[in-house]
Amino acid sequence: MNLQELEKTARALVAPGKGILAADESFGTIGKRFEAVGIESSEENRRQYREMLFTTPGIGEYLSGVILFDETIRQEASDGRPLSKVLEEQGIIPGIKVDKSTVNMPLSPDEKFTQGLDGLAERLAEYRELGARFTKWRAVITIGEGIPTRSCVEANAEALAMYAAFAQDHDLVPIIEPEVLIDGDHSIERCYEVTEWTLHETFDEVHEHGVELSGLLLKPNMVISGKNSSEQAGVEQVARATVECLLRTVPPAVPGIVFLSGGQTDLQATQHLNSMNSLYEGLPWELSFSYARALQGQPMELWGGSTDKVEAAQKAFAHRAKMNSAARNGRYSEKMEQEAA
Ligand code: 13P
Repeated sequence: MNLQELEKTARALVAPGKGILAADESFGTIGKRFEAVGIESSEENRRQYREMLFTTPGIGEYLSGVILFDETIRQEASDGRPLSKVLEEQGIIPGIKVDKSTVNMPLSPDEKFTQGLDGLAERLAEYRELGARFTKWRAVITIGEGIPTRSCVEANAEALAMYAAFAQDHDLVPIIEPEVLIDGDHSIERCYEVTEWTLHETFDEVHEHGVELSGLLLKPNMVISGKNSSEQAGVEQVARATVECLLRTVPPAVPGIVFLSGGQTDLQATQHLNSMNSLYEGLPWELSFSYARALQGQPMELWGGSTDKVEAAQKAFAHRAKMNSAARNGRYSEKMEQEAA
């Protein structure tokens, strides 16, 4: 393990004013997102869509890294350059999702377990050859009647830590993503409790597996009200609950925390990140973003699969990235949204 390289990459991924685009939707997920806006999910459409995002002028000013899907890291832009090379030329570090998605937990089908440890070492070696410098593994924790179970939280935490050990062993920065889902009618307090538990277990396992904290990033959910809860916490409450929870669970040696958007609207995801960065000073880690939906919603809809919409879609994408870049420093305001419009 080359810890110096790992630390350098991890710090570059949370450089001031920059965050990560998660563009690593699996076939199933991109299919659902495309279908919702009337795009056919063919290999060529997926390639063109991602080329549109990655060739957006000036995007390297706001993005430090992009998480790719297996298919994408093997694809080329229309001019023949590998898509990972397109990113590098924008000053963006290519990363890769390496988990193999979830299955229902045995004997507890309302919960998920993330697979992908078999053959992981070989896949990591190939991804490094293909240009990846960091990786991501997503675990899913569901809140509901009698769940999560201890079995689910522990099994997923151990898999996350094991994956992180494999990744560091291959000089690839692991982004560990234990996502407590927003789905359900639970309160923000319940989300806090489950997120705190999940993060405790995760960092416990990270320690057990000898993973270096300074060479990894954490990608957590924010502490937020369940989507169907009748009581929705406001922006400042979410910001405070999230940071207080992280202060009690994430060791200061971790260089950065990059949130997922997890079904929040584009604006909410930006406002929450901005609020955390403006309310708190001198936190031990950088607070940044690794959004998929909250960065891609509008550009995907505008693009709609047509070449004459590329410019409009790229403009919307650059705008969203710029807003989140401002939120990184707590300098975002609603006024900035209107200025662009
Ligand atoms: P969202 O921002 O859409 O939650 O996606 C982030 C991600 O990478 C989920 O694995």
